[in-house]
Amino acid sequence: MKNKKRVFSGIQPSGDPHIGNYIGAIRNWVADQEEYDNIFCVVDQHAITASYDPEELRRNVRQLVAVYLASGLDPSRCSLFVQSHVPEHTELAWLLMCVTPMGWLSRMTQFKEKSEGKQEQVSAGLFTYPVLMAADILLYQADGVPVGDDQKQHVELARDTAQRFNHLFGETFTVPQPIIRPVGARVMGLDDPTRKMAKSESGQNHSIGLLDEPDRIRKKLARAVTDSHKEIVFDPRRPGVFNLLTIYRSLSGQSQEEIEAHFEGKGYGDMKRELADVVIATLEPVQARFRELTEDPAYIDELLAEHAARVRVIARATMDKVRRVMGLR
Ligand code: TYM
Repeated sequence: MKNKKRVFSGIQPSGDPHIGNYIGAIRNWVADQEEYDNIFCVVDQHAITASYDPEELRRNVRQLVAVYLASGLDPSRCSLFVQSHVPEHTELAWLLMCVTPMGWLSRMTQFKEKSEGKQEQVSAGLFTYPVLMAADILLYQADGVPVGDDQKQHVELARDTAQRFNHLFGETFTVPQPIIRPVGARVMGLDDPTRKMAKSESGQNHSIGLLDEPDRIRKKLARAVTDSHKEIVFDPRRPGVFNLLTIYRSLSGQSQEEIEAHFEGKGYGDMKRELADVVIATLEPVQARFRELTEDPAYIDELLAEHAARVRVIARATMDKVRRVMGLR
């Protein structure tokens, strides 16, 4: 246990998790859980930086924990908890805010995208969001942060923050590295393959939810945007087909060559149907386990309380040190 590197990651409970979250994050956490000392969080305090419904948030938190477990995260090998259950996250975020230059935050592309045209109205929390994320990671002295491509800049900010803090106050934090898989790190929207698949997009045919029924998955894939070419090959200049093939590749485990050979001479309709088969076969066991888990909410609540207590020991040790070096004790 001691020799294993520690990973930390999280997902916002801000809507239904989709296949981008699965391919870019959850699936990789599951695949590597033997290799690492694992801490996975449901980041509810990040989900309140934009407008939201409290009842829905409460439901989404439980749902996401059940998705973590149903996807195969093993609670005997991973700590699974909810961010707000460990108050040290927000305390550290404040302290880090006082060492993070405004300029760094102004350069975050996600903030620029999310605040576009409404700079004056978005919450201050949306602007300082990456600092809370840095606190999540640094609190546990994580070595690695397995994420999709869109979170790379945020993890780099956590890295820069750790280095700056260590320089100002002495060695305190482990400097974390992003862990990003080469394939599937950026799954695109089915309705617009030039845009990232995102929980915040509302289009009917935009994303495949992890809990979508097989019929819905087939319909959404049948309507997915492609192009007027014919050949089924991995060509990034044809983003629709490239995205569908990338999803196929990620979930089937086949190589690019195998897939191109397999689809030679076939049409987009065939490819979409076969892709639907692969997606449904992947999600069916996850959904079955999810249904079982939701029948026993007490199990999830107990697990969350126990795991929060466990990770809090690490959080407290880090905070003791941080307060001391910053002159707050
Ligand atoms: P979030 O909730 O947007 O996404 C959760 C994870 O899913 C990945 N992801 C994708 N991967 C591939 N294709 C996509 N279309 C796609 N959409 C999302 C994300 O990269 C992420 O790994 N700020 C984070 C949550 C967070 C966090 C942290 C992550 C808060 N604290 C500490 C790591 C460490 C976020 O909003 O992720």
